[in-house]
Amino acid sequence: MKQNSEKISVLTAYDYTTARILDGAGIDVILVGDSASNTMVGNPTTVGITLDQMIYYSKSVVNGTKKALVIADMPFGTVSGNPIKSLEASIRMMQETGVDAIKVEGGAEIKEDVKKIIDAGIPVMAHLGLMPQSINKYGTYAIRGKEEAEAKKLIEDCLLMEELGAFGILLEKIPAKLATEISEKIAIPTIGIGAGVGTDGQVLVIQDVMGMNKDFSPKFLRCYADLQTIMTEATQHYISDVKSQNFPNENESY
Ligand code: KIV
Repeated sequence: MKQNSEKISVLTAYDYTTARILDGAGIDVILVGDSASNTMVGNPTTVGITLDQMIYYSKSVVNGTKKALVIADMPFGTVSGNPIKSLEASIRMMQETGVDAIKVEGGAEIKEDVKKIIDAGIPVMAHLGLMPQSINKYGTYAIRGKEEAEAKKLIEDCLLMEELGAFGILLEKIPAKLATEISEKIAIPTIGIGAGVGTDGQVLVIQDVMGMNKDFSPKFLRCYADLQTIMTEATQHYISDVKSQNFPNENESY
């Protein structure tokens, strides 16, 4: 798709029903993001989600997907400088879920892990720029790559990941100019979130896109629906019908 200049559409999903809808609508890629930690479990960060939980969500998404490529996030601590352990965790993810590929957060510091995983035949997408799993190291979700040194390291990490054999790179919350420069420099596709229009594709979190979480409204987000209002009103309508005995009616009874 990158070679044909066709932009790649990516959304997250964590369950069978949502995956079926996105897949049926023609999405290119479904990402089972570790944002499930926030959106599905209600944790304050992505650090709290476990490999077992990610496997559960990933399998549910695979069950609902016929056509889209499914990528699963490797959660915090599973790919972090111990190549044997990283490979074991990645094999579990592939074997127990049927996903097509995994995504890992990090650059040069997980070079050996990524090499080992790719050598074992597991397709890897790298995640660079803002890396939410490192929140306790940086203490902020602020934009990354604004300073020259950080931008330089980011470019080097992208080139390294390409050299190691990663099939794509997710770039989160970096200046649009830098994301465009990286996307032009490497042959593998870049997928951006808060990285401008110059990346080879875009990803957003499904609850954010569908307007299910009005408390979260970063600059990079565009809502395509207002499900929070629709679901609230539908729920209120249902409650009222139950209370007034308007539901169920005769046709809805045996
Ligand atoms: O976990 C996630 O949802 C992500 C986002 C950056 C899309 O990685």
